[in-house]
Amino acid sequence: MFISDSVKYIGVDDRTIDLFESQYVVENGVSYNSYLIVDEKVALMDTVDKRGLDEWSKNLENALGGRSVDYIVVQHMEPDHAGSLAYTIEKYPDAIVVGNAKTFVYINQFFDVDLSDRKLEVKEGDTLSLGSHTLTFLMAPMVHWPEVMVSYESSEKILFSADGFGKFGALDADEDWACEARRYYFNIVGKYGAPVQALLKKAKTVEIEKILPLHGPILDENLGYYIDLYDKWSSYTPENEGVFIAYASIHGNTKKAAEILADKIRALGEEKVAISDLSREDMAECVEDAFRYDRMILCSATYDGNAFVPMEDFLHHLQIKDYQKRTVGLLENGTWAPAAAKSMRSYLESMKNITILDDVVSIKSTYKPENEAALDKLAQAIVRAK
Ligand code: FEO
Repeated sequence: MFISDSVKYIGVDDRTIDLFESQYVVENGVSYNSYLIVDEKVALMDTVDKRGLDEWSKNLENALGGRSVDYIVVQHMEPDHAGSLAYTIEKYPDAIVVGNAKTFVYINQFFDVDLSDRKLEVKEGDTLSLGSHTLTFLMAPMVHWPEVMVSYESSEKILFSADGFGKFGALDADEDWACEARRYYFNIVGKYGAPVQALLKKAKTVEIEKILPLHGPILDENLGYYIDLYDKWSSYTPENEGVFIAYASIHGNTKKAAEILADKIRALGEEKVAISDLSREDMAECVEDAFRYDRMILCSATYDGNAFVPMEDFLHHLQIKDYQKRTVGLLENGTWAPAAAKSMRSYLESMKNITILDDVVSIKSTYKPENEAALDKLAQAIVRAK
């Protein structure tokens, strides 16, 4: 992949990983991006997960073309980027490691390396001249770890954005950017909306022509589209008008009620109604859809006096990802003592700015004609809440 004569892509695709961060299904793999700036001085912008070390070290040697590394810039210490750092530090003994105070704390925690005479500690706004290229370091704490910083290269107007603007999927995956970037964002960075907003504010102060993230494709056109999406996501503003129905059904009866409800909502003219089975569909995608739409309906069977486990799991995910600013309706099912609504409500009440609709539907074992009026009321209430 060509970026410019001086800035080279040296990252690797990982199509064999079973679960990214041991929890996310990545059917099309993931890329660990890494870049080399070749000028009077040579700067390496992050390494890669150690899973990609063999291929990456060859890419690095090829890009170096016989030169050596002068600076190893560490923007993020998570092992999917810094996993090959100890190797690199050892392989290029004259290279200076560039990071902030927290970076060096984490380097010492992860590795047994002595950087006492070969480190450059930077803080907000510090610059590093490489010749005709100059890097300015902007601290981006909690996007996605405390030590994260991004780097702006002013001669080519490049923002090295660390995890920001990243997505799941190998670079050769033929897939929509927003779909996998949104799933990545809400599941990995989603909790940290305020820090992302702070970073976007800093990014607005510089002219950017290219964004080079640590995962996914390089962004070099129509940047406003990506920045607007990030602004929406990080301010917890719904991206789309629509209703997401998430159900947790044990024997299919709650599922049937959820599907009837979806039909009723569609019949009322709602254009977008998405429905997911929390027991079988990708949890990360369900979390993504919860954030994507402005309204949600939760339908759950009762299980051991609570909501059914996949629903409890889903709500726990939403809670830790700081789900907020949405309207939510509830449907519960139970054979002898329906209790799912109470449990779902208790999660939702712990979240910020969630409006829970009054029209809670409670069914006993199976959906019956006698439940229709309550279902109609809930359908009307969620459509009115637009
Ligand atoms: Fe891609 Fe937070 O690491």
